[in-house]
Amino acid sequence: MSASLVTVSYIAAIILFILSLGGLSSPESSRRGNLYGMLGMSIAVLATVAGPHVTLAGLPWIMAAMLAGGSIGLYAARKVQMTQMPELVALMHSLVGLAAMVVGYANDIDPVAALNLSGAEKSIHELEVYAGILIGAVTFAGSLIAFGKLSGKIGGKPLLLPGRHLLNLAGLLLVIAFGWQFMHVESISAGMLALSLMTVIALLFGIHMVMAIGGADMPVVVSMLNSYSGWAAAATGFMLNNDLLIVVGALVGSSGAILSYIMCRAMNRNFLSVIAGGFGGAKLTKKVDGDATPAGEVVSVSAIETAELLLEAKSVIIVPGYGMAVAQAQHTVFEITKLLREKGINVRFGIHPVAGRMPGHMNVLLAEARVPYDIVMEMDELNADFPETDVAMVIGANDIVNPAAQDDPSSPIAGMPVLEVWRAKTSIVMKRSMAAGYAGVDNPLFYKENNRMLFGDAKKMLEEVFVALKA
Ligand code: TAP
Repeated sequence: MSASLVTVSYIAAIILFILSLGGLSSPESSRRGNLYGMLGMSIAVLATVAGPHVTLAGLPWIMAAMLAGGSIGLYAARKVQMTQMPELVALMHSLVGLAAMVVGYANDIDPVAALNLSGAEKSIHELEVYAGILIGAVTFAGSLIAFGKLSGKIGGKPLLLPGRHLLNLAGLLLVIAFGWQFMHVESISAGMLALSLMTVIALLFGIHMVMAIGGADMPVVVSMLNSYSGWAAAATGFMLNNDLLIVVGALVGSSGAILSYIMCRAMNRNFLSVIAGGFGGAKLTKKVDGDATPAGEVVSVSAIETAELLLEAKSVIIVPGYGMAVAQAQHTVFEITKLLREKGINVRFGIHPVAGRMPGHMNVLLAEARVPYDIVMEMDELNADFPETDVAMVIGANDIVNPAAQDDPSSPIAGMPVLEVWRAKTSIVMKRSMAAGYAGVDNPLFYKENNRMLFGDAKKMLEEVFVALKA
């Protein structure tokens, strides 16, 4: 394939990627968005493999690598549970970071690239290599720790080292100093030493940055690492002189940055302090250990009593959370919704921006169960309506309905906006036990006078409620 045909294919792929991002912005068009993305990626890979940079001798290697990578990807995608998606995504981000690091080192030791360049071109090349390895190393290490935290292999408790901001600042100064050395020394071994030391610092920073984040703030970090992986890919594009990779990397990087900003606003967190690693100023005086101590009496109800409360209601708001995803209860939720709506009850869904374990987690599940989009509302659209709501039904959610976020400044989730279900006439919380949610903090909602607890697996309990409703 000629170079100009490759360029045309790349432009087509870029247009498809932009259309894909547009499609993914709403649940109705997200399938189409995915298709555009798949088509764009197929064109991009085919044009690259058939392009002038790939020699015939290299082709079998590329085919073998694609076969191996494709098989692993296919296996992982088929096997992964919906609730494990964020971990898988974090792991994928780490691979993008690793690729940027490896390409950076390969570029640095490539004698052809080094000999052909001089003056400003050489400096730009070295800067690309240095920045590429730096972003790649932070992304790689940070994403691996995020994977550990999301999969529960590493505890959710934030690691707050004394003087952590000073440590980060010292790391930044060293990275700049090594960068200067890398670009100014003549000796190859001295340059490599500077590069290697910077890599170690970047890896440590990546680990420290994510270890310092508490459980409830993980969504911000996940979307931020998403953005970093985009910039790592763009850096790889610069090193390989591949325009498509630069554009796609920038698309992922900037959309990830916008998502991080939205997440920060949703969580009422400061964007800059997230990037600096850990959230400045937050003094944790509350226990954060994943098993909060119960602090009061709770009133539990049966499935039949729940059905009675629902039938007496004129308006119901359902708040789904991570537990609905675990129990795969979305289809039963839909059956109940349909039945209640047929009886003239106004049923709506309240979606918190960080409900579940990934952005849009609840929207995806509800769309899969065919819940109409027009009754699925965002937190801000519906929070004011709770006082006029008869029943707020919380299904496997915990942190996102925790009043401590508003009432207790010492709580680790203080300041995070929450769905104010306790303002409804009655709230019903459906979960298996009194265990804490992801952030590991006790939930005063459970002990409120107008709150009822329906203990059990969400799917099983909802099925019982459905039977009682029909009876
Ligand atoms: P959580 O606070 O994690 O609470 C989920 C609750 O579901 C748990 O308390 C658990 O209680 C219950 N549960 C688990 N399995 C269940 C089952 N089979 N049936 C019924 N209940 C079940 O979830 P949330 O309210 O959705 O809040 C999300 C949390 O995750 C936030 O802290 C958020 O910051 C964090 N997070 C979010 C994301 C994104 S991007 N959405 C990413 C990473 C982290 P029992 O064990 O007692 O049943």
